[in-house]
Amino acid sequence: MTEMRPVTDATASQADAPKKMALPDAQTVTQVTHWTDRLFSFRVTRPASLRFRSGEFVMIGLMGDPNPDTGKQKPLLRAYSIASPSWDEELEFYSIKVQDGPLTSKLQHIQPGDEIILRPKPVGTLVHDALLPGKRIWFFATGTGFAPFASLLRDPQTFEDYDEIVITHTCREAGELEYGAALIESLKHDELLNEVIGEGFWKKIRYYPTTTREESPKMGRITDLMRSGAAFEDLGVAPLNPETDRAMICGNLAFNLELKEMLEEYGLEEGANSDPKHYVVEKAFLD
Ligand SMILES: Cc1cc2nc3c(=O)[nH]c(=O)nc-3n(C[C@H](O)[C@H](O)[C@H](O)COP(=O)(O)OP(=O)(O)OC[C@H]3O[C@@H](n4cnc5c(N)ncnc54)[C@H](O)[C@@H]3O)c2cc1C
Ligand SMILES: NC(=O)c1ccc[n+]([C@@H]2O[C@H](COP(=O)([O-])OP(=O)(O)OC[C@H]3O[C@@H](n4cnc5c(N)ncnc54)[C@H](OP(=O)(O)O)[C@@H]3O)[C@@H](O)[C@H]2O)c1
Repeated sequence: MTEMRPVTDATASQADAPKKMALPDAQTVTQVTHWTDRLFSFRVTRPASLRFRSGEFVMIGLMGDPNPDTGKQKPLLRAYSIASPSWDEELEFYSIKVQDGPLTSKLQHIQPGDEIILRPKPVGTLVHDALLPGKRIWFFATGTGFAPFASLLRDPQTFEDYDEIVITHTCREAGELEYGAALIESLKHDELLNEVIGEGFWKKIRYYPTTTREESPKMGRITDLMRSGAAFEDLGVAPLNPETDRAMICGNLAFNLELKEMLEEYGLEEGANSDPKHYVVEKAFLD
């Protein structure tokens, strides 16, 4: 684990950078950190009226290109998990850069002072309200699916409700683990969180990062590591049990489906806001 720090500064040319938009839902970018050539995080101002539950997502974006016929521009919006906790005075997001992606080909060039559009209507299933009380909670992520857990890992309720928090993060390459690793490391030194949640609260976290296509201390898909028993052995915890364990899943579609099937085999049932049960799932992106 390493301290959270900017890996590179935003280096977009001014020509690429989004301009001031003067829109009703505009928020100002306050910080940008590029973690790899495919991943960056950024913080924006928070609308005073925005209330959300840690783990929820909102629609954010930029103005699209002008229509060649009319010259009119429409907002280009995408779903984004809020990576900051509900108490934070700013909002943080953790984003992919898809080189030909309509939104992220532009969004990756934002700089402090630029504006983005943020629709203040948070929704989502990865919330504590959708789970029954339990002893241990598992956060299962691939790629940018870590984002909602970056929020929940900074939420006092996570530590009040559970004795143990297991966070697994599977990525192709080691660099893609950096944002999550830095965030977890930073919790140890966060004076506010240690004071509010309790000194040493972070000791409840069991962090299990794995890579699949580049050498790292732990290789393999979390699903395979659970099937072989290696993950439980490494973590020193028993396989999931509906009596004690709760889970939240956020990754690509195949991962979500595979893990969902595994959790059902352990006897866990899927919950929802209106019907809390043992686990909940959300897609990290649409395929
Ligand atoms: C509920 C929900 C929450 C989301 N939260 C986040 C988030 O916190 N951070 C984030 O970066 N994205 C998130 N996404 C994905 C996001 O909505 C966009 O798809 C993404 O920003 C790319 O937008 P785009 O217009 O550039 O490309 P799009 O046209 O939206 O996507 C192009 C292709 O890129 C790939 N892709 C898209 N998003 C990702 C991703 N996150 N990781 C890997 N491959 C991807 C897919 O193959 C997709 O078909 C979320 C999606 C959903 C449904
Ligand atoms: N990450 C990159 O370096 C990279 C570079 C260029 C383009 N892309 C493209 O970007 C898109 C998303 O890539 P991504 O790496 O962010 O996300 P991803 O393809 O969803 O993979 C993220 C992690 O999830 C694992 N995974 C996938 N399916 C799984 C399953 N069913 N069970 C358990 N684990 C599973 C992957 O392992 P496996 O490696 O075993 O699949 C990988 O470690 C893809 O279309 C990809 O082609 C990615």
